Amino acid sequence: MKALILVGGFGTRLRPLTLTLPKPMVPFCNEPMVVHQMTALAKVGVKHIILAVNYRADIMENFCRQYEERLGIEITISQETEPLGTAGPLALARDVLKEGGDECFFVLNSDVICEFPFQDMLTFHKQHGAEGTIFVTKVDDPSKYGVVVSKPNGEIIQFVEKPSVFVSNRINAGLYLFETSMLDRIELRPTSIEKEIFPLMAHDSKLFCMDLEGFWMDVGQPKDYLLGLGLYLGACKRHEPEKLATGDHVVGNVIIHETATIGENCVIGPDVCIGKGVVIEDGVCLKKCSILENSTIKSHSWIRETIVGWGSTVGRWCRLDGVTVLGEDVNLKDEIYVNGAKVLPHKSISNDIPEPQIVM
Ligand code: GDD
Ligand code: MG
Repeated sequence: MKALILVGGFGTRLRPLTLTLPKPMVPFCNEPMVVHQMTALAKVGVKHIILAVNYRADIMENFCRQYEERLGIEITISQETEPLGTAGPLALARDVLKEGGDECFFVLNSDVICEFPFQDMLTFHKQHGAEGTIFVTKVDDPSKYGVVVSKPNGEIIQFVEKPSVFVSNRINAGLYLFETSMLDRIELRPTSIEKEIFPLMAHDSKLFCMDLEGFWMDVGQPKDYLLGLGLYLGACKRHEPEKLATGDHVVGNVIIHETATIGENCVIGPDVCIGKGVVIEDGVCLKKCSILENSTIKSHSWIRETIVGWGSTVGRWCRLDGVTVLGEDVNLKDEIYVNGAKVLPHKSISNDIPEPQIVM
């Protein structure tokens, strides 16, 4: 079986992290986002993953070779010369997707995190026998997603992308399973699968939906990334508690990379992920945050609702809060207060930032 992952888009909502790496390669719980998906696909027997890329294919190439070996699957890049949206990339990869017979294939948005119950999806898809199945999930604010109305058997009767008036609170989770026949609906030009293809498939009674079990989050924005972190760690607690850190300094669900070092008298958690090579000095308090690879948090700093980018340094007695994101190699002097700022890579900060702003 094959899968295509949509890894284009500029990831502007996840800046400054996406100034360093394309969104799908930004770490989420110590693995690049897309690796969570690739691992789940490999588990249900996918042997070939196509990454639909529209920029920085150079970085993606290296990345593919590394994970091909680890996951034991083939990973290829389908490179667009102009952004083809969410359906155009399927037309571009049409020949590869049809190669070797008419087997159904998965299509995934690269920024969603869940428990990926792909086996259930396969079973449901085979049962209804139509052209496509999409996972749906319930959210409080459906306006920033694709919204679905369906019959009790799952047949979708209406699909509306980013509705301006309330239609339903069941939304497209960005995970699909298609028959190759649906490829005939897509032309090789920039096309939105949500706006141009799904409504037509629904009109022809060819698109079904299935409620996704467990948690779900689109982690393509800092606030949602941090919410997703809490949900992911909650699921770890239920299914893989051995992944979570234990000890007197740990509160709630926390992941600490084996190469990270933690000082004396720290309070770590709840909902914290500490990356490879991170140094946490004495007396640090961390809540609801992610500290990426090789960063250092100096003694007695207090950090909540924050993502600290790769190789950054937070000085002593600092206080970070309010969905702050530090880019790669940011340096915060001692005793700095930062509230809700997005700090671009390689900046040095020596004054407080009390209000949310972008620091360039
Ligand atoms: N290759 C390629 N080319 N990929 C693209 C392009 C492109 O031109 N444009 C966007 N993508 C990829 C993004 O990287 C992402 O993985 C996926 O397509 C969806 O784009 P987003 O920009 O993240 O869309 P969204 O979050 O606003 O909405 C989508 O996801 C929601 C669920 O999170 C839609 O599919 C909604 O219907 C859905 O509810
Ligand atoms: Mg998204």
